[in-house]
Amino acid sequence: MEAPLPTRDPSAPPQGLSRPIALLITCLAILLAVFIQNPSLAILHKYKYGHRLPLQFAATQALPQSVSEAILTKHVLAHLTSAQLSSREETLEEIASTPAMRARLLATLSSLHLYRSRALGALARKRRAFAKMVRQDRLLLQQAGVDYSAKLAGAEKGVRHTAKVMEQILAHACAYYAVARKEVEAFARATESGSGGTGDHTQLTQAMKHLVRDYSTEGAAERKRTFGLIQGWLAQEFPEGGREGVTVLLPGCGVGGLLWEVAAMGFEAVGVEWSFWMNIMQHFVSSAGPVPIVDTELEVNGDEHKGQHTIYPYIDWWSHHVTNSNMTRPLHFPHSSAPLPPAIPPPSSSDKIHPLVDTHPAHRVFLYESDFTNIHPPFSPPLYTCIITLFFLDTAQSLPTYLRKIHDYLLPGGVWINLGPLLYGTKPWVELSLEEVVAVAEGMGFVFDDIVGKMRKEGPEGGWVEGSGDYDGWVDTLGDGKVVGLRAGYNIDWKGIGRNEYLAQAWVARKKG
Ligand SMILES: C[S@@+](CC[C@H](N)C(=O)[O-])C[C@H]1O[C@@H](n2cnc3c(N)ncnc32)[C@H](O)[C@@H]1O
Repeated sequence: MEAPLPTRDPSAPPQGLSRPIALLITCLAILLAVFIQNPSLAILHKYKYGHRLPLQFAATQALPQSVSEAILTKHVLAHLTSAQLSSREETLEEIASTPAMRARLLATLSSLHLYRSRALGALARKRRAFAKMVRQDRLLLQQAGVDYSAKLAGAEKGVRHTAKVMEQILAHACAYYAVARKEVEAFARATESGSGGTGDHTQLTQAMKHLVRDYSTEGAAERKRTFGLIQGWLAQEFPEGGREGVTVLLPGCGVGGLLWEVAAMGFEAVGVEWSFWMNIMQHFVSSAGPVPIVDTELEVNGDEHKGQHTIYPYIDWWSHHVTNSNMTRPLHFPHSSAPLPPAIPPPSSSDKIHPLVDTHPAHRVFLYESDFTNIHPPFSPPLYTCIITLFFLDTAQSLPTYLRKIHDYLLPGGVWINLGPLLYGTKPWVELSLEEVVAVAEGMGFVFDDIVGKMRKEGPEGGWVEGSGDYDGWVDTLGDGKVVGLRAGYNIDWKGIGRNEYLAQAWVARKKG
């Protein structure tokens, strides 16, 4: 009997090469074949930075890379829910494999756990300070009808109520990030005993103020000015009917108010946010579902905030209040017209996140819980039609890196919309003036629109007045039409007498096509 012909296993390495080199060549060949035949399978490729591309971007790469042609099919959109799910899975993987990231998460979770005791501790310090006052001065207050103890009691009521919501947010976050409560409590104990860990209370109260700006009725005035301006420019750039498949990246998206608004306009909205304080709040709000429209009968019954969460965001800082009732007023979120997905049951650690309903804008939201400069590896193809930087540019350690990344991530002809001040913090390596920022951006290939000319031609939208120093005024900051300066608040307490306000700088620039 003839011996069978020797057959070669196609998966076996080519002979004559050492095993590791052969393996490498085989892998590269397979990857190349996969990319050439079906670029949408790029989602299978896990980059060095641990992020898969959401499917829609993989598909974008298959298309000619110009803005007008970067239109996606319904078929691709249908996969976005799974992209969202993988976003969570990848975050969990990263947290598990990166001790520094896990420590950062635990610090955030422990600040939620410690909210009640820390806020009550702050009130106890105020009580002790008050007790130090001489009798004569206390009498003066008493005679004027100032009941400081009642004020402290009012603030305490607010703390206790807010603590309940922080507790819910913590429970949701522990489930979302699959972290055991015990671990959070141990971290919190270590923090409080000074034996390690930090869980910043101020960061938490700041995140609460972002909830107010992005998702409460009181935040509407601030949203109208900043979100409104950006949304207006976005709408002009991409009229209704032409938004499908238009990818908009929002680096440093905070608690996500603008992200969800952009998605609701019909864009593919991709947020990037590094802070767990912000992300935890965003996950919580976006799982709550929109608030049911108020029923008049309920309103009569004093139940007009049914379905909303109530916090007391101003009791942590006693400066700049006109009245005590302003300081201790409750705020409710989310407001009933916030463009949020339908309520999603909070994930238990073993659960998959409940898939979102098909027709909802939620399908078009993706969040990278990551550093914006690292979401895609160097030399990856540009993916986004538009990038919006809102109160973000000045967070950079290296502003040129941010500019470079914005440029790299944008498709040729893509649009960059900016609004924000230049308030450098967090130890920047370079602090540029506005004219320097514009010069660097132009040097790398951005062309700035004549935004001033456009605003003059189209008239003052939303009551803007050129050259006025008033709240509704705007100015041609550099005198060359490229940048508009307008007064914009940031987490303002509208009933307070201290306001965080900037002459924010806004522009529309395009990457040369
Ligand atoms: C000043 S806040 C503005 C937030 C949001 N755009 C808004 O208007 O509410 C800047 C945000 O950028 C985030 N951030 C800063 N550096 C970042 C980075 N390299 N990658 C992603 N997010 C970053 C911060 O955590 C913070 O939430």
